[in-house]
Amino acid sequence: MNILLTGGLGYIGSHLALGLLKNKKTKLTIVDDLSNAKLSTKNTIKYLSKKKFKFKKLDLKNKNKLQKLFKVGKFDLIFHLAGSKSVKESQINPKKYYENNVIGSINLLHAMIENNVKNIIFSSTATVYGLHKKNCYSENFSREPINTYGLTKKIIEDLLIDLKEKNQINTLILRYFNPAGCHISGLLGENPQGIPNNLYPYIIKIIKGEVKYLKIFGNNYKTKDGTGARDYIHIQDLVDAHLKCIKLVKKKSDIFNIGTGRPYTVLDIINSFKKYCNFKINYNFYSRREGDIDIYYNKISKAKKKLGWSAKRGLKEISQSTFNFAIKSK
Ligand code: WQD
Repeated sequence: MNILLTGGLGYIGSHLALGLLKNKKTKLTIVDDLSNAKLSTKNTIKYLSKKKFKFKKLDLKNKNKLQKLFKVGKFDLIFHLAGSKSVKESQINPKKYYENNVIGSINLLHAMIENNVKNIIFSSTATVYGLHKKNCYSENFSREPINTYGLTKKIIEDLLIDLKEKNQINTLILRYFNPAGCHISGLLGENPQGIPNNLYPYIIKIIKGEVKYLKIFGNNYKTKDGTGARDYIHIQDLVDAHLKCIKLVKKKSDIFNIGTGRPYTVLDIINSFKKYCNFKINYNFYSRREGDIDIYYNKISKAKKKLGWSAKRGLKEISQSTFNFAIKSK
């Protein structure tokens, strides 16, 4: 099967590339604009997979380059992971998010239709839901995103749903909760340049000794210990969910929440590194971040029933793989 993976050198994309390359029938083309990924990750994928694949540095905003790629590619399936994903940045620079996420996706869909490529699996996010009274989010919750990042993902979902209803494409939309953890080799993980916004990449900087302590944003949330609670899903479980979609996408379009159904607080995460890695994370409490909510996690029934997938890993695997990656990438 001829697969195009957009954003394939990123944190999630690179792990998915390894999963796809395990199938010897896969002919994989990775595109990435390298705005949030390192070219060296291409060599890491080659080293770990021992397989050949094509890579092209490509910005989805470049329609001509995209058209040329599709002319030669003859793709059967698209995994669309490329996009900007910082909530904080999206609030400061919405234009970048409309261009990268929405226009980039429109160009991709245009190229698919022009070249009669039918199947697309889209990397969406639980951030599309926004705030809800209930903490356990299911796929039929209304989508009321409270930041530009979430809004762009909702817009792309709506385009996919419209094209599917017009029988132009088949699509599976995966709404990720909080991806975490690293590849078992310790050679792939989330290691953004600069000071990360997200919790786990920040903890990686602490383990590497680049920052001294964790700033915990808020300790008066309505959770068991007052710190924010999220549904952290191991990257390998996330990859397994994508691989399950390959067969299903041709048969039935659908939308799935991808999470574990088990929320953990920031203090739970800190304790997991002590318990499973014997590593103490120092921290101080700070005021809440704007837009952060107390707790949300996934209602897991639909993916379990219709995709035949559920998460197998927990905080032990997440903390140990994160610690292993941080030590190796020192
Ligand atoms: C998790 C918890 C923070 C950093 C975001 C995006 C979401 C998805 C995942 C792409 C919260 C607390 C964090 C820190 C802290 N990304 N925290 N100190 O905000 O749940 O979700 O990333 O799809 O779309 O919104 O993840 O890791 O930033 O925060 O106390 O230095 O950790 O308050 O409770 P979030 P996060």
